[in-house]
Amino acid sequence: MKLSGKTALVTGAGSGMGRAIAKLFAEEGARVVAVDMNGDSVEAVASEIKASGGEAVGVAGNVTKQEDIDTMVETATSTFGSLDVLVNNAGIMDNFLTVGEVTDEVWDRVIAVNLTGPMKLARAAINVMDKQDSGGVIINNASVGGLFGTRGGASYVASKHALIGLTKNIAATYGTFNKIRANAIAPGGVNTNIGATITAPSELGMRAIQGAGEAPIGEPEQIAKVALFLASDDSSFVNGDVLKADGGWTAR
Ligand SMILES: NC(=O)c1ccc[n+]([C@@H]2O[C@H](COP(=O)([O-])OP(=O)(O)OC[C@H]3O[C@@H](n4cnc5c(N)ncnc54)[C@H](O)[C@@H]3O)[C@@H](O)[C@H]2O)c1
Repeated sequence: MKLSGKTALVTGAGSGMGRAIAKLFAEEGARVVAVDMNGDSVEAVASEIKASGGEAVGVAGNVTKQEDIDTMVETATSTFGSLDVLVNNAGIMDNFLTVGEVTDEVWDRVIAVNLTGPMKLARAAINVMDKQDSGGVIINNASVGGLFGTRGGASYVASKHALIGLTKNIAATYGTFNKIRANAIAPGGVNTNIGATITAPSELGMRAIQGAGEAPIGEPEQIAKVALFLASDDSSFVNGDVLKADGGWTAR
């Protein structure tokens, strides 16, 4: 068990990678605070974890709302007594809208969910982790869109690049002596429900991503194993890094 005695808060835990991460972390002994704005799905995940003998609590909450963030972190400390691992996983896409096409509304929403929410959660988590002798671990689920110019529209790519910048800043300031480590994951194409949100893709944005070649498609469980590595002491000297998991999509 790689996460025995640890409390892990996972956002976007009702679906896709967040769900897989919450379940794997619980199997590895973590007490999981599973968060999602979709209350039904997160309750279902928490129930599945408990039915298989794990410990979990579901929290219906939106990462763009400060009061919900306070509830998420407070639930971790009041229910389980600590907050050791934060996985900022909740994220949304933007229909590949280019900078010439994106509306203020889409830009603001994508930045709020993919960047400002993770920053506010990290801020709240660090205020707990900093007081713990064992510190903590922050994992931000970015994207290969955080490393390259396509794989999303202007707001998605900008938000994920900035999330990686935030990760490095946390690592450099809080992790120098390995007390609070922060790393990012950059998945490529993964088989989740996020594809269903691509309802009216930009023609120009799609042309740009098609230029990157066909993406191999991974499963959420494959990303959960990367998150487990970064959450556990197996990665105790890994700090401020971005771990790509894209089946070689960006290697060619
Ligand atoms: N699927 C991919 O191909 C892919 C590739 C690279 C990166 N990512 C990133 O992985 C992360 C997880 O995505 P996924 O593919 O598992 O998607 P998903 O749509 O299956 O799951 C995302 C979950 O996040 C929740 N969510 C969305 N906005 C929220 C908010 N404001 N507050 C709380 N919960 C919210 C949704 O309800 C959903 O349950 C995202 O950050 C995404 O950008 C996905």
